[in-house]
Amino acid sequence: MTPKLGGKVALITGSGRGIGRAIALKLASEGARIVVNDLDEAPAQETVQAIRAAGGEAVACVGSVSAPDFAERFVGTAVNEYKGLDIVVNNAGYTWDNVIQKMTDEQWYAMLDCHLTAPFRILRAAQPVLRALVKAEQESGVLNYRKVVNISSIAGLGGNAGQANYAAAKAGVTGLTKALSKEWGRLNVNVNTVAFGLIHTRLTEATADANAQITVAGRDIKVGVNPGLMKAMEVQIPLGRGGTPEEAAGAVYLFCTPESNYISGQTIVCGGGFTLA
Ligand SMILES: NC(=O)c1ccc[n+]([C@@H]2O[C@H](COP(=O)([O-])OP(=O)(O)OC[C@H]3O[C@@H](n4cnc5c(N)ncnc54)[C@H](O)[C@@H]3O)[C@@H](O)[C@H]2O)c1
Repeated sequence: MTPKLGGKVALITGSGRGIGRAIALKLASEGARIVVNDLDEAPAQETVQAIRAAGGEAVACVGSVSAPDFAERFVGTAVNEYKGLDIVVNNAGYTWDNVIQKMTDEQWYAMLDCHLTAPFRILRAAQPVLRALVKAEQESGVLNYRKVVNISSIAGLGGNAGQANYAAAKAGVTGLTKALSKEWGRLNVNVNTVAFGLIHTRLTEATADANAQITVAGRDIKVGVNPGLMKAMEVQIPLGRGGTPEEAAGAVYLFCTPESNYISGQTIVCGGGFTLA
């Protein structure tokens, strides 16, 4: 069977672990060549190796999406390595929770920088490349659809106590999607959002360890969900459980296929039927 994404070039942020990794493996399994990104070198290289071991093509562009020079480097990697740019998935992210009276400016801006400013910069850097590719295709009579999938959360649609920073950034993602879907229609780019509910990853791992943490930009940040709270959350999900990274990747994949060529500016919730809105 012909792979659905044969020859496409896909850039996926935060694809060293969790949902991003599953998206990278899924798109690669359908023939896309992947630019893998992660903050951490080892997991980024591991994803690259997993794709290559399965017969696919991938290259890593390691670094924080929040770094001011990252967007140019990321887009440049796709152009230098694969001479193309067809799919961008803005997935990298983490949470840094606190109630508003205790939330520092650093916490606030860290979430806006990572979840909203970074996708903005990546898409801004991609525009001249897309425009040139589309112009050349149009001149030779080729109609080709490209895809942007921005990752949001049910917290960005319905809010979540303790996540004013994250919810605001993730709500902004849907605004960015809608504006760009209007701006880039003329370039035949479909721009959509996938908002996840509870997906089992490091971010939401059920852990009895109150000290579970990740390190982002030299800061240790608490992660994980208390097992009791996890059970209570799962009870509220109509499908009765959290999702897997592979199921989450499936939702993103839908927006990358030719079958979604006439869908743009939309948000789908991948949450087993649960929404906060
Ligand atoms: N897991 C969930 O339930 C859930 C729910 C809603 C939304 N999301 C969103 O899905 C996305 C993926 O999360 P996940 O659950 O797979 O988490 P994860 O921690 O398993 O994976 C996220 C990856 O992104 C990387 N990353 C974090 N900050 C980065 C940065 N500044 N630059 C580059 N890479 C960075 C991490 O190193 C990690 O490998 C995030 O945007 C998250 O907000 C997840």
